Amino acid sequence: MQQNTILNEASNNMLSNIYRISILMTTPSSTEQVLTQIVDTVKEGLGFNRCSVYLINKEAETLECKFITGFTPDKEALVMARPFHLKRHECIETRVVKTGASILVKDFELDPTMTALDRKVTARMGRGCTLYVPLMIKGTVIGILGVDKRQGEPEITEHEFVSLSIFAGYASIVIENSRLYEALLHEKKFSETVLTSSVTGIVTTDITGGITSLNPAAAKIVGIEVGNTALLHRDIGEVFPALPGLDRIFPAVGVEEQYLESCEYHFRKHGGATAILHINASPLSDDADRVLGMLFTVQDVTSLKEREHYLQRVNRLISLGEMAAGVAHEIRNPLTGIGVVLDILRRRKGFLPRDRELADEAMAEIDRLESIVAGLLDFARPKDFNFEESAINDVVGGMLFLIEKQCRDQTLQLDVRYGDDIPPAPMDQEKIRQALLNVVINAIQAMPGGGNLSIETAYRRGDKDMRDSIVITIRDTGPGIPEATRERIFDPFFTTHSEGTGLGLSITHSVIKEHDGTITVESAEGRGTTFTVSIPIKPHTNGEE
Ligand SMILES: Nc1ncnc2c1ncn2[C@@H]1O[C@H](COP(=O)(O)OP(=O)(O)OP(=O)(O)O)[C@@H](O)[C@H]1O
Ligand SMILES: [Mg+2]
Repeated sequence: MQQNTILNEASNNMLSNIYRISILMTTPSSTEQVLTQIVDTVKEGLGFNRCSVYLINKEAETLECKFITGFTPDKEALVMARPFHLKRHECIETRVVKTGASILVKDFELDPTMTALDRKVTARMGRGCTLYVPLMIKGTVIGILGVDKRQGEPEITEHEFVSLSIFAGYASIVIENSRLYEALLHEKKFSETVLTSSVTGIVTTDITGGITSLNPAAAKIVGIEVGNTALLHRDIGEVFPALPGLDRIFPAVGVEEQYLESCEYHFRKHGGATAILHINASPLSDDADRVLGMLFTVQDVTSLKEREHYLQRVNRLISLGEMAAGVAHEIRNPLTGIGVVLDILRRRKGFLPRDRELADEAMAEIDRLESIVAGLLDFARPKDFNFEESAINDVVGGMLFLIEKQCRDQTLQLDVRYGDDIPPAPMDQEKIRQALLNVVINAIQAMPGGGNLSIETAYRRGDKDMRDSIVITIRDTGPGIPEATRERIFDPFFTTHSEGTGLGLSITHSVIKEHDGTITVESAEGRGTTFTVSIPIKPHTNGEE
């Protein structure tokens, strides 16, 4: 009877110990929390004062102490810092791992199976009767659980041996669970980091097209703050209206797999500017291949496209320039010849006044032709550049008196804003002035009935893609340039003005290019045009700094 009571008590005690740690299986816990709880239970529940848990490392090479208690702090630190090497170290700890069997050592001095390392550790730690039981999952050892008594304390009993072995079985499951949980957490965190640090926008939707998530890059592209949930549950078609293929995808999602091949999409941002996006879509499936929705990847390729266009324009103008230079050269000589002949004729005695008038008219036309040829040569081979460190504000200031009267006559509001602290840059002042003037005159011509003309200078600090530069912005509120012709305005002889030659912007482009700068145009029909000229502050060094 008494025997039964003791057994009952023991098994109740055991159950409560197992219960203590098995709670950890139902609440997600870190390995650290789990090990603390296991060791606490071994100490308080099973009555051992000294306890340690070792786990095999990922590479299955070493046995590392993950938790130890009951020794002096310096000894515990030493054990934590010195893992056992499973191949090199011969000791009871590695033997339990290799055999998968518990080892109880009553006396290290007397036991003949003890190795030199065992004796060394015993001397260092002052351990008496020691027991190690394996921590096993599905027949594989993942670590060991150890207890020992101080030298001189009573030996570990049979009952304690059995209790610790049973307890170790449950402890193994709890440890493995926590490790799986941590791995999962790590994986989740990794996926989250990939999503948040991706420069590609990623938007997911459910099978009806309702947005379920969007990463920071996607938020930036569509122009909302990161973390703003305003777009959640909204239809993807509201965010990307008329996205080609959307109607094809959504009725079909869930029925069969539908993909959207990379399509170029012109996205209108909040401010009215347009961004060029590359959008792909593919189905989002779970492990059982059930389609959960769609995954959209969105890339903003606006600046890439702009650069591409700019390079195309530069290349086109270079070849046009070469041709123009040849033609200009060929025209110039006969033109001079005709001029000389006409001059001789009109000086002849007996030349009627009426004929002289005709000859003068012809001379005037020759002058006009000559100025076109000169302009063409300026565009084709801008030469004789005189670079000197110049302040852009002075260059712009020196141009204003040429346009002020015209602005007054046309009742144009002229707004000039000079940027502060703009460092000087190497430029040919005359040529830059002429280049900017060409743009400004176009702006004035675009607003015959009045409007606003603004000229702004600024300093733009460079980054890894761009050098420090001066930026001049010339903005008008004229009719804008139709998209269809926007690409051609820099071409020589492209003009919509009855009196124009169409060389103004071509020359401007050549001059800016000669300064290693860029000129770009943005225009909204009916609202106006903005030209942006950028001139680097340091000239090209061909790599030699
Ligand atoms: N600010 C602007 N607003 C509207 N259209 C413009 C503007 N700037 C340029 N353009 C268009 O670009 C064309 C080409 O300009 P460009 O200065 O090269 O030649 P042009 O002004 O026609 O002739 P030129 O400059 O030789 O007198 C213009 O004819 C006009 O159609
Ligand atoms: Mg012009």
